[in-house]
Amino acid sequence: MKTIFSGIQPSGVITLGNYVGAIRQFIELQHEYDCYFCVVDQHAITVPQDPIELRKNIRGLAALYVAAGLDRKKATLFIQSEVPAHAQASWMLQCISYIGELERMTQFKDKSTGKEAVSAGLLTYPPLMAADILLYEADLVPVGEDQKQHLELTRDLAERFNRKYREIFTIPDVRIPKVGARIMSLQEPTKKMSKSDSNQKAFITLLDTPKQIEKKIKSAVTDSEGIIKFDRENKPGVSNLLSIYSILGGKTIEELEAQYDGKGYGDFKADLAEVVVKTILPIQERYYELVESKELDDILDEGAEKAKQQANRMLRKMENAMGLGRKK
Ligand code: TYM
Repeated sequence: MKTIFSGIQPSGVITLGNYVGAIRQFIELQHEYDCYFCVVDQHAITVPQDPIELRKNIRGLAALYVAAGLDRKKATLFIQSEVPAHAQASWMLQCISYIGELERMTQFKDKSTGKEAVSAGLLTYPPLMAADILLYEADLVPVGEDQKQHLELTRDLAERFNRKYREIFTIPDVRIPKVGARIMSLQEPTKKMSKSDSNQKAFITLLDTPKQIEKKIKSAVTDSEGIIKFDRENKPGVSNLLSIYSILGGKTIEELEAQYDGKGYGDFKADLAEVVVKTILPIQERYYELVESKELDDILDEGAEKAKQQANRMLRKMENAMGLGRKK
């Protein structure tokens, strides 16, 4: 059976973008693949985090994975910092990474430009992500569009290691969904929806109330044309709402265009809000049952144990290939 690895940062409550671009895919894939899904808390500390908030977000994200449908019998769910091999493997991969290639990562440029103090961790973030993936010999990595460049670097690093030392790494393929790989901000629809946006109206989180969701969709930026048509170039706001509706409502874009032919944005937005609420409410119900439960701790304990076994096996191979320590 082929293996999948993917992770999400616990840097706030996850958004509808994370759900559509990532978690929703994970839930489908767990039936066909051997899956590892991770709460990548060590990635989150590459930018400042409040320790109390971070702890809350780690647990919250784990609960959301399960609430969204992750089945502990089918997939391994764990917290990155509870499996020390990630940081260890990351160091080795940093030592074969070039500063130039890390500086060229668009995420690094976006997060560091104009900042006075940029952490070294922000620069070495991609080798940590490569370690996450390569330790599990993942064949496939499901992510949204914004992670494509990191995946390319992961492949480069794996190939470089295989060439320089010994052929131990599987070269992973990226899997990006055809629709929904880049859900945009509700306020600036040419920018991706992000949980770290300073404008709360720009994103919907999986824990927003129905009232908040209705309000945010109602105030989503569209255009003055009044026509519901998919045209990413000229109508980015409407196109983004159509993508969300299509994925969560199970209708094609063409079906939606026909359904709303001659209707205004008001009706369309009200119906979309209903579809979003209908998707999110059952997840929230399960989330609140789980988040403080022993069941969640059991899932995470079991996940960390299983992940450790695989990760340590691969770590040993890496150390042996590089000649670290004594022969094991
Ligand atoms: P993160 O935490 O920013 O996002 C988690 C997942 O959600 C996707 N995503 C989106 N998809 C569609 N529309 C959006 N607006 C949107 N925003 C985010 C992301 O593409 C991602 O799939 N570096 C990663 C975390 C990571 C990881 C890994 C992923 C660490 N190690 C190993 C895969 C494999 C990140 O910051 O994702």
